Amino acid sequence: MNATDVIEAFSMPSWNGPISEADRARALTALEDGKVVMVPGLEFRLHEGEYPFLDAGALDNSRKNISYDPRAGKCGGSGVSGPELERLTIMMDRYATSADHLVRLMLPSYAPHLEVARTSFRPAEIGGRVYSPRHDDRRLHVDAFPTRPTGGRRILRVFTNAAPDGALRRWRVGEPFPDFAAAFLPRVRGMFPFQSLAMSMLGLTKGRRTRYDQCMLGLHDTCKLDMKYQEIAPQADVVFAAGTTWMCYTDQVLHAALAGHCAFEQTFHVPVEAMASPEKSPLKVLERLSGRRLV
Ligand code: SIN
Ligand code: FE
Repeated sequence: MNATDVIEAFSMPSWNGPISEADRARALTALEDGKVVMVPGLEFRLHEGEYPFLDAGALDNSRKNISYDPRAGKCGGSGVSGPELERLTIMMDRYATSADHLVRLMLPSYAPHLEVARTSFRPAEIGGRVYSPRHDDRRLHVDAFPTRPTGGRRILRVFTNAAPDGALRRWRVGEPFPDFAAAFLPRVRGMFPFQSLAMSMLGLTKGRRTRYDQCMLGLHDTCKLDMKYQEIAPQADVVFAAGTTWMCYTDQVLHAALAGHCAFEQTFHVPVEAMASPEKSPLKVLERLSGRRLV
């Protein structure tokens, strides 16, 4: 596999476009096909007082990310307070707003259905750290989070590499989701009856974990723990230069982040029904493969 198989590139001078109708259609098809939509040169400009935040050491070392909730306007995991926290919040909110704008502009058919989730800032260098296998995003995986079941909704993420030293963000991108799922689904164990209700009642999950969520978590874990697959699976090296923005469905695109620092990320959830081709969603693929409804 080559990077050109998994990347669809667009040229856009600013977060406000312009973008042609033809490019909008191309972006929608590429995303739903499981490609990475990339806009080289679409940078997130920092303001004067924000540069200190790019130094990972300035922030709470115990966490790898700063997390921001755009609906509540609140930052977590920063370890800063007072006027500094205010400046950090403004920076995070500016990224959230820019990414929201971009998605609505490129994918207008999603706009009425888009659910805005969390924003993150990832200052720390990915390479050269120690992770447990399940938390090691340097291994190929599809995104699925134990505490945040989606019930089948899509995970659409926008990223920008804002490394001030020009460091590349290096990814590997794997095979198409249907091929991956067909190989791994038989290895994923189901959920015990009442487990999902119990977890939600105990507050362990935000909402009910459906059979779909259980499958996706199983795929995430099984894939990361299979070192043979990690080595021999079809995959392409992809690099994102500093000052580049990209987006993809991370619940569908097998990805691994190998190196880089100072990335911004905004998550959206998209209902399957809002897609142009719902049959391409992981939910529909897994339902076809398992022969049963999963939500
Ligand atoms: C991931 O979602 O696995 C990490 C992506 C990144 O931080 O570049
Ligand atoms: Fe991921």
